Amino acid sequence: MLHFKTIIEPFRIKSVESVKFTHREDRETALAEAGHNVFRLRAEDVLIDLLTDSGTGAMSAAQWGAIMQGDESYAGSRSFFRFRDVVQDLTGFRHIIPTHQGRAAERILFHSLLEPGQVVPNNNHFDTTRANVEVEEAEARDLVIPEGRVPSQIHPFKGNIDLAALERTLDADGSRVPLVMVTVTNNTGGGQPVSLENLRGVRQLCDRYHKPFFLDACRFAENAYFIKKREQGQSGRSPKEIAREMFSLADGCTMSAKKDGLANIGGFLALNADALAERCRNLLILTEGFPTYGGLAGYDLEAVARGLEEVVEEPYLRYRIRSTEYLHERLVAAGVPVIRPAGGHAVYIDARALLPHVPPLSYPGIALANALYVEAGIRGVEIGTVMFGRQPDGTEKPGPMDLVRLAIPRRVYTQSHIDYVAEAVIGVAAMKNELRGYRITKAPAVLRHFTALFEPLPA
Ligand code: F0G
Repeated sequence: MLHFKTIIEPFRIKSVESVKFTHREDRETALAEAGHNVFRLRAEDVLIDLLTDSGTGAMSAAQWGAIMQGDESYAGSRSFFRFRDVVQDLTGFRHIIPTHQGRAAERILFHSLLEPGQVVPNNNHFDTTRANVEVEEAEARDLVIPEGRVPSQIHPFKGNIDLAALERTLDADGSRVPLVMVTVTNNTGGGQPVSLENLRGVRQLCDRYHKPFFLDACRFAENAYFIKKREQGQSGRSPKEIAREMFSLADGCTMSAKKDGLANIGGFLALNADALAERCRNLLILTEGFPTYGGLAGYDLEAVARGLEEVVEEPYLRYRIRSTEYLHERLVAAGVPVIRPAGGHAVYIDARALLPHVPPLSYPGIALANALYVEAGIRGVEIGTVMFGRQPDGTEKPGPMDLVRLAIPRRVYTQSHIDYVAEAVIGVAAMKNELRGYRITKAPAVLRHFTALFEPLPA
């Protein structure tokens, strides 16, 4: 019998969308008109869009079929019950509250739980999560293990939270901690997984200090697959069984269905505590909608329900994790500094290491992201000093790392697209000495990376 080493896309393509080829000068003009911020580009001026893996995936024929089955009733829609049953089967949580996306779940949870001056520990908060903590005048405290802060250091579960540091926080500031969060996978720290052992450790500490434990579960399926591949004793279990155990260790979760829900929009808040669920539902009605749709159409609930079933299928996850690793391998082989090992949903280039002549406050991540767009039409995103350098008091300091994330939309690009990306990144890395830093000319006070305007620094 033949044994094949080639891992192929576990789907064939039924519907295609053309991409637009542009010239370098067109892209230079487009970027200048966008204030040198790739978030402000028109997407059609981008050839390969790796800005995010959020809401950008391709849905399956089964999801599109389910969309036609959407029940648009305002209250008690059939699609809600289908959605609720799938989420409950996966997570085991008692209350399932649909929201239009992840940050709405975060806002509702944090507004229901947080008081000014409190502290929320997490391995790493992602941008909107941090902003939703800070808007309640609470502190978002990142406690990822030390290995998780060093791009070049290899560790199988680099997303783990530092249990000793969490214990110190609970010991010293316990009265100010309303919940503990862990983000799976750890997006800010490189799409790195968290082990079951680590989640069990968090559970024990939360039990000892009587704190609720919530997962930020956006990429729970990718995390489960890493556990299957890397954690002792887990290789014989299905990704769904592992995911169920991850959820069983927590008291609730926030979820963006735009990632591992394989949908273009959607999310949910799920939890066990009855009184808290009631407070959250009341807030939901205020801004998202009635609790059986939460800001979504009935057809969105159908798409998410089907997506959550597909995302834990093993052939899908094998392809997903391997295709990210494939890009990573090519960049490592060419000596491009990247976070190691590969993340689940993205490859993160270490712009601070690649461009030592551009200091953090001149935004090496922006310099690299912009060069990738101008030279190759590829759009990545800075995860660094622009995203995380502004302090709540208005001052600025270097972010923990200066990265450019190349996030891979689910089921969208083929291997030849990725070969092109590898060639482009390696080519731009070879031009590193020509890349210059930037300064910000205009920026809002919160989440400035989305809309800030930049100016290149003189040579
Ligand atoms: N938590 C994590 C870890 C995320 O990565 C995101 C979104 C959210 C919460 C918020 O979810 O977008 O549905 O409101 N991350 C996207 C990204 C935007 O590009 O990584 P949302």
